[in-house]
Amino acid sequence: MIRKGRRAIIEISEKVKKIYRAVYIDDLKREVRALKILSKYNHFPKLLEVGDNYIVISYDGKIVNKKDRGNYKNQALEILSELEEAGIEHRDAESVHWREINGKLYLIDFGACSFRGEDVPKIRKFKYKMTDREWVDVLFK
Ligand SMILES: Nc1ncnc2c1ncn2[C@@H]1O[C@H](COP(=O)(O)OP(=O)(O)OP(=O)(O)O)[C@@H](O)[C@H]1O
Ligand SMILES: [Mg+2]
Repeated sequence: MIRKGRRAIIEISEKVKKIYRAVYIDDLKREVRALKILSKYNHFPKLLEVGDNYIVISYDGKIVNKKDRGNYKNQALEILSELEEAGIEHRDAESVHWREINGKLYLIDFGACSFRGEDVPKIRKFKYKMTDREWVDVLFK
């Protein structure tokens, strides 16, 4: 968040600590690997700290209001091409994982992602089997 004071611009940053349950340590590893690859783009959480069972990442805002989603279509398409370029499929791009802060769109939660040319992880209790492209088409009309 940027605040403008009379004499200075103040940057207020918030962090998120994501502590993984022991059985999900593979998800942590996947997420760390993905966030490192994606660190050259600006639409994904920044990795600030990595522990044995947790990560600290940037705070990337709130869920995009349904009625505002149309405004974020271009950024959603940008995100798709960045993922494509990076060789990463998010695989769980449901609405709650799209966040916005100050008009900027972010995609979070890479615990279930897959890397091009590698086996796709088996994820328990996967509700949907939609590709990232399909999610974007459904959410950002
Ligand atoms: N970088 C972030 N910025 C803002 N909110 C976040 C961020 N990371 C996580 N959250 C919040 O915490 C919730 C859970 O985070 P996340 O989806 O990464 O965890 P998860 O345990 O893998 O989730 P699930 O398995 O339920 O999909 C998110 O839906 C969101 O509300
Ligand atoms: Mg999640």
